[in-house]
Amino acid sequence: MKTALITGITGQDGMYLAEYLLGLGYRVCGVIRGQNNPKRERLEALLPDVELIEADLLDQGSLVSAVSRVAPDEVYNLAAISFVPVSWNQAELTGEITGLGVLRVLEAIRIVEGVSAGTSGSSRGRIRFYQASSSEMFGKVRETPQNERTPFHPRSPYGVAKVYGHYITVNYRESYGMHASSGILFNHESPRRGLEFVTRKITNGVARIKLGKQRELALGNLDARRDWGFAGDYVKAMHLMLQQDEPDDYVVGTGVAHSVREFVEAAFSYVGLDWREHVRIDPRFVRPAEVETLTADPRKAREKLGWEPTTTFEELVRMMVDADLAFEASRHSSP
Ligand code: NAP
Ligand code: GDD
Repeated sequence: MKTALITGITGQDGMYLAEYLLGLGYRVCGVIRGQNNPKRERLEALLPDVELIEADLLDQGSLVSAVSRVAPDEVYNLAAISFVPVSWNQAELTGEITGLGVLRVLEAIRIVEGVSAGTSGSSRGRIRFYQASSSEMFGKVRETPQNERTPFHPRSPYGVAKVYGHYITVNYRESYGMHASSGILFNHESPRRGLEFVTRKITNGVARIKLGKQRELALGNLDARRDWGFAGDYVKAMHLMLQQDEPDDYVVGTGVAHSVREFVEAAFSYVGLDWREHVRIDPRFVRPAEVETLTADPRKAREKLGWEPTTTFEELVRMMVDADLAFEASRHSSP
């Protein structure tokens, strides 16, 4: 039985990955931070077989002790400040967690395994490492679609921090021969997506409007385009990367982009509403520097990993609206 250690276990991807690995027969351990983390209860109810370890990406010692205690075969670093707008307000903290946090996890592995620089090229250390890199690194895109060789031009402190995380992963692979891979994942969504992200904000807003709990939905830039897929598909790509003989970098996405406006139209029309009667543009949700468009070229993931997305854009929208209708109908809050 293999053991996986997942940072960011309370997040969207952490939960899907844990579920997937448990299904494959893994022992799954997850890093949880903070005293009395409010997400612990939900996680324990949903995934009682996951072992939770207290640690924080800001605290090197806690990570060394987590890796040492768990003795994992695979480490998935999913923890981050992941909401782009927060990164302008807390730029330094974003750099610390989303950027330097990657270094701390790599260091924890290196220290526990006793790996040092010197004999480059040979593969040393047993633990395999996955870094959650992001299409946000492409930012102001230099070409469309984006592949593993497309230059980066990040547009937010979050994107800048992810570029650091990406290159420190490549560097530990090259310096220490670590089996360290980086998944450059495009936007992936689900009913477990945080309510602050645009897809879930829309599907939850649609459900609340349909149920008479809310009248309008305030959004920012409707022209932005994203390559949206289903998170449950994407965690399988993470796992596949760590099963390869050689570590590498992979772009993961559907290859199809839609605008925020198209997502809005699809979600409202699914419940028989006209979005123009409910959506209001609010400049507070417009970003200081926008990533206008992202489209993946996932050929390498398809050819080398055999990975394919299984969920279309329309299926994703319907899945999320249905889940939010059920979620909102079961809540006892007044309109
Ligand atoms: P998410 O739902 O926001 O989850 C983020 C996780 O990071 C949470 O479990 C959070 O824990 C944890 N975390 C934050 N700061 C931490 C710290 N100091 N120490 C330990 N844990 C900390 O994000 P997600 O959507 O699942 O994404 C997973 C990863 O993939 C992130 O790194 C994200 O940047 C990256 N990514 C996501 C997408 C996407 O479309 N979803 C695309 C590309 C890359 P708490 O519960 O304690 O806050
Ligand atoms: N959140 C939000 N709220 N976004 C809005 C809104 C709004 O009211 N109105 C328009 N948008 C636009 C944003 O300007 C952006 O262009 C797009 O919707 C998507 O925003 P998010 O859903 O917040 O995601 P993101 O693309 O910024 O970042 C997500 O994907 C990255 C991968 O490309 C996050 O999951 C990142 O962690 C991830 O790295």
